Amino acid sequence: MCGIFGAVSSSKIQNSLIEGLMKLEYRGYDSAGISVLSNTNKIKRIRCIGKVNELKKQLKASKIVGECGIAHTRWATHGEPNLKNSHPHNSNKISIVHNGIIENSDELKAKLLKKGFKFSSDTDSEVIAHLLADSFSKNNNTKNSIRSVVKQLEGSFAIGILFEDMPDTIIAACNGSPLLIGIGDNCNFISSDLHALTSKTKTYMPLNDYEIAFIKKNNVDLFSLTGKKITRKAVKTKQKDKTVSKNGYKHFMQKEIHEQYDIVNDAIKSHIGAKGLLPNIFGPNSDNILKTIKHIHFVACGTSYNAALVAKYWIEEVSDIMCTAEIASEYRHRITNIPKDTLFVAISQSGETADTIYSLKKAKNSSYKSILAICNVPESTITRLSDLVYLTHAGPEISVASTKAFTSQLIALLFLTMILAKYSKNKTIGKSILKQIKTLPTVLKKTFLLEKKIKEMAKNFKNKHHALFLGRGASYPIALEAALKLKEITYIHAEGYAAGELKHGPLALVDKNLPVIGLMPENNLVNQVLSNLAEVKARQGLVYIFTNKKLKLKKNEKTKIITMPSCGHFTAPLVYVIPMQLLSYYVALQKKTNIDQPRNLAKSVTVE
Ligand code: G6P
Repeated sequence: MCGIFGAVSSSKIQNSLIEGLMKLEYRGYDSAGISVLSNTNKIKRIRCIGKVNELKKQLKASKIVGECGIAHTRWATHGEPNLKNSHPHNSNKISIVHNGIIENSDELKAKLLKKGFKFSSDTDSEVIAHLLADSFSKNNNTKNSIRSVVKQLEGSFAIGILFEDMPDTIIAACNGSPLLIGIGDNCNFISSDLHALTSKTKTYMPLNDYEIAFIKKNNVDLFSLTGKKITRKAVKTKQKDKTVSKNGYKHFMQKEIHEQYDIVNDAIKSHIGAKGLLPNIFGPNSDNILKTIKHIHFVACGTSYNAALVAKYWIEEVSDIMCTAEIASEYRHRITNIPKDTLFVAISQSGETADTIYSLKKAKNSSYKSILAICNVPESTITRLSDLVYLTHAGPEISVASTKAFTSQLIALLFLTMILAKYSKNKTIGKSILKQIKTLPTVLKKTFLLEKKIKEMAKNFKNKHHALFLGRGASYPIALEAALKLKEITYIHAEGYAAGELKHGPLALVDKNLPVIGLMPENNLVNQVLSNLAEVKARQGLVYIFTNKKLKLKKNEKTKIITMPSCGHFTAPLVYVIPMQLLSYYVALQKKTNIDQPRNLAKSVTVE
């Protein structure tokens, strides 16, 4: 997944391209590049390994200017993150940027090699440039040429194209990867997301699958793959142009961890009234729809998937509804049984994760009762495709490792649990959840007081190569999330396990060097987790216990107890994840890794 930005204007656009790319850098930061059409209609390209800032410096030194250009920030899929694999890729009079994966690129490349085309990269994307050059050389009709190329591409793609013979024009096409066209005043744009557009224009239109756009500064022509002209009205976004700063924090991740108190507090204030939850918070008529639901299929990726797992524990505990939580990349490719009255729920911070989008599209063509999106980004692909939408309002999450998005999803899912409890077997449990939710902000405040202690604890992890997180019940997904956070930003190999599974394999890893972190909110499972931790201690493992239950255990060199503030059974996952996020953050700080942009990762995963 990569970021694409492009601009065509009556004035110089190279700085706009850099600004756009900077906002898209969360989609990948292996390399960056731009191509512009010079005043003599020649393609001028500049590329660099690493961040957009480096590109900015090189661009300034190069003095390249133009009024029409395309830009790209890369997350490597095919080919190493080196200069030759950086976008744009050129062929003859063509320059292209691509986001996605061309699945039949080997086949296409073999044909192009036979025709004498020379490849200068290991990417799948370069075939697009050569196919276009081949087609344009044979065919005077640019529109027909591009249609014939797009027809040959299998897989997902968003493409921006410059062609020397079409001055002042960006050509764009997509399938399965998002691309938006921004409509400005004497200036139009293409962008992978809305966030990169809002400082330039608030008016935009999405490019749909298998559509082709010819974008000039004052005009956008849209065509279908059959060549039919498409008329589409541009829409106005309500999104404000927000420049997000670290607000005095050292890293975005640290800032975002600390924002969780306000986000949870705001969600409570805006969704809970004097009589409890406000009606229809999941969208128009959602309460009536939820009343009839018998099953739920949650589908998501990464941290959002861990939130789905927590919801499964919650909902099955309080209702008759059967839930499954599934990883989107699995769901989308398998045959699924959909019982009558099943709700499909896609959870996504970005709203642009390819596997979740494909799953949602599959769900739309199936017999679900309704499709609900729990998403942080309004006007994203996932929100556009869903029947019901809950916006988590966590604000832009910049750190690649997700923190505040997770808690904002959990609070939404707890609201959903309350609604479903109301219509189900346990009519009073909703009141108890509500009580717990109301005290949550105070509990979170107390939890943040542990920060210093966790910072100290993190020092013990600096030289570790492995770590194990254990939990039972709804703390098991929190153990998974804790392990995910640690590996994402510290590169320490970490596993989250259902504590009861320890004896079925992971116990073999335990020795005097392995830290094992037990998440034990006070509930009926505490004794079981303690027994599992005893198995670790018996094998000399280092045990860290996070709990709000008074334990009779003796603290010693090998057993550390971190006393958590007391919290409700249902709100515990939101509370216990905070020290886990802080732990990863401070271990990463010790290890001096790139916390906000960890190696090899990206925030919005728009490839399969
Ligand atoms: C990437 C991010 C994760 C995120 C996952 C799902 O892997 O690095 O932080 O949890 O995608 O993203 P989504 O935007 O769909 O929640």
